[in-house]
Amino acid sequence: MKKIAILASGTGTNALNLIGKAFTYSDLKISCVIVDQPDSTLPEKLTEEFPQIPVYKIFPDESLSKENRKAQLDKKILSQLNKHQTEWVLLAGYMRMIGPAILRYFEGRIYNIHPSLLPCYPGLRAYERAFTDKSSSGVTIHLVDAGLDSGPVIIQKPFPYEESDTLSEFMSRGKKLEWELYPKVLEIILNSPSHSRVMGESL
Ligand code: GRF
Repeated sequence: MKKIAILASGTGTNALNLIGKAFTYSDLKISCVIVDQPDSTLPEKLTEEFPQIPVYKIFPDESLSKENRKAQLDKKILSQLNKHQTEWVLLAGYMRMIGPAILRYFEGRIYNIHPSLLPCYPGLRAYERAFTDKSSSGVTIHLVDAGLDSGPVIIQKPFPYEESDTLSEFMSRGKKLEWELYPKVLEIILNSPSHSRVMGESL
């Protein structure tokens, strides 16, 4: 059984879509979902739709310095990932950079979905920026490294900009493509060797 965790920050449509698809594969298990934003609506949706999946709300401690806050958040996340013997991590709208401890531990096993044809429009509000430029755009699934949306591209697919588009039409074309593409990573994982670790192995 291959165990996959999902990290999300927002509404979680990709997370819910991935979880629904993962249930169709008997060899995949969603180990846990971690949400880092107090106003995310995902935990409630998950409790309703998939009550069997553990969900953790892990927020940064605002009383700490910026550097310590980030390190402590990553440590807490890593600890939950390991508690559930997670082997792969899927970022689904997770709005933070992944810190070195998690990157080291899950090297080559953290995927992200980005709403553009990378390397175009890395970072925030990628659909909005492409729309403002009247540019066609796309969706990219990539492996995560220490940079901003800079890891190796795994899957990419474009979609057009139409003159008559509103931003919402443009974005919903992108979102549909996201829901189609991200689950393909589940098949990649299914076809990858297992990475289960000996319990107690040092981090
Ligand atoms: C998606 O557009 C994804 O490409 C980006 O963050 C957004 C998350 O949306 N990384 P949702 O929370 O999955 O609906």
